[in-house]
Amino acid sequence: MSNIADAQLIDKAIAAATHSHSPYSHFRVGAALLAQDGRVFVGTNIENASYGLTICAERSAFGSAITAGAREFDAIAIVASGEEPPLPCGACRQVMAEFCQGDLTVLLASISMPEQIQTYRLDALLPHAFSL
Ligand code: THU
Repeated sequence: MSNIADAQLIDKAIAAATHSHSPYSHFRVGAALLAQDGRVFVGTNIENASYGLTICAERSAFGSAITAGAREFDAIAIVASGEEPPLPCGACRQVMAEFCQGDLTVLLASISMPEQIQTYRLDALLPHAFSL
């Protein structure tokens, strides 16, 4: 387990959210994914004029991590511009489960109140994940 603090991971997610491409929803999301080797991979939401092609911040972060060879993760911080901490969508929960089998700490915060962090485990957010 890396000893990066929860607040540091939230800060990295907030920095990623500044790069959000969200001209349609105007909803900025940032994610910072902590690998077990201590590396942190960030992602942001990338919208498209063909709305269904939008990529969520969490999946963007996982794409960076997997591409760099990381496979084991301790935690993900997710932040968004709304008033409430952003619960990840179902598709992103399933993608997280692919690599973490439920054993992932999920930290959530609103960008406007970054010190108010909600903490979940992935298996509480997605019980009975699909697997082949
Ligand atoms: N979004 C994410 O980035 N992550 C989620 O878990 C849910 C939604 C993005 C997609 C879209 O750009 C915006 O939030 C509004 O749905």
